Amino acid sequence: MAQLEWSRLCERYTTDDHRPTRSVGGWTEDKLFFWHRYVQITATAMVGNPRFPGGVAYVDLFAGPGVCVVRDTLKRLPGSPLIAAYAPKPLSRIIACELDKANAAACEERLAETPAADRCVVLAGDCNTQVDRVIHELPKSCLGLAFIDPEALHVKFETIRALSAVGAMDLLVLFADAFDVVRNVEEYYLKNPQSPLDRFLGEGSDWRTDWSSLLDRSASKVRDLFLNVYRRQLKRIGYSHFGDQQISGPSGPLYRLVYASKSALGLKFWEEAKSKTRDGQSRLW
Ligand SMILES: C[S@@+](CC[C@H](N)C(=O)[O-])C[C@H]1O[C@@H](n2cnc3c(N)ncnc32)[C@H](O)[C@@H]1O
Repeated sequence: MAQLEWSRLCERYTTDDHRPTRSVGGWTEDKLFFWHRYVQITATAMVGNPRFPGGVAYVDLFAGPGVCVVRDTLKRLPGSPLIAAYAPKPLSRIIACELDKANAAACEERLAETPAADRCVVLAGDCNTQVDRVIHELPKSCLGLAFIDPEALHVKFETIRALSAVGAMDLLVLFADAFDVVRNVEEYYLKNPQSPLDRFLGEGSDWRTDWSSLLDRSASKVRDLFLNVYRRQLKRIGYSHFGDQQISGPSGPLYRLVYASKSALGLKFWEEAKSKTRDGQSRLW
């Protein structure tokens, strides 16, 4: 299949199919645009690579219903599982997990209408408890691309650890740093060792020690601190190459996309994906 530009993929989903959708802010299109480019670049380069006889497999732990609708403009956007289904070279397996039953059913139906229909599985349930089933669905000796796109700090580090243990598993994790951590760290998370932040960062993160030595607690310094703690944890489970991308709304930063790979090549693909913006401009940073 030829490369499908983002705008052409969006055109496929302009018509309302009367299934559930997800209402989103306009910035969601930035997130999906970068992910689409990354999947396109990685599939083009890596599908068929003899190093990965199991092909390139895709894991989506927070799959959603498959289509997002931008609140202000009503523009319909293909969600992450459909981006994978239209990869320019076939991904060997597409494994989507979704907690909400109606969303999971909509995702399954939409995937069934794509060229990847016979390579997809949708698991309904909490990804933190379904992760073993996700791993079971992966082909042996594959390169995994995992998109982890929660609405807040919903993915446990233990889940990431389990995924990473399969071998080559590149990650893009939405880290709700600005709209969750910055707002809640002092009031809720600091005193509670079982907090969502503790589960997200994982055992042994020791973030309170970092916090106690942080003198400048401006939002940007707090965000930097937690990015460093998260990367430190990812290093402990074998990741060595990191990228990130801040996503902002009209009032400033909202969250970060944290990219992690065990290979320099993965990071190169991510950097290439980020090198163009939605308006087709090349970025100089
Ligand atoms: C931000 S949306 C995902 C959007 C999707 N990646 C896309 O591109 O359209 C988060 C989704 O995760 C689901 N969800 C929330 N907690 C979950 C969990 N623990 N396990 C799996 N899915 C979950 C929600 O129902 C929601 O549909």
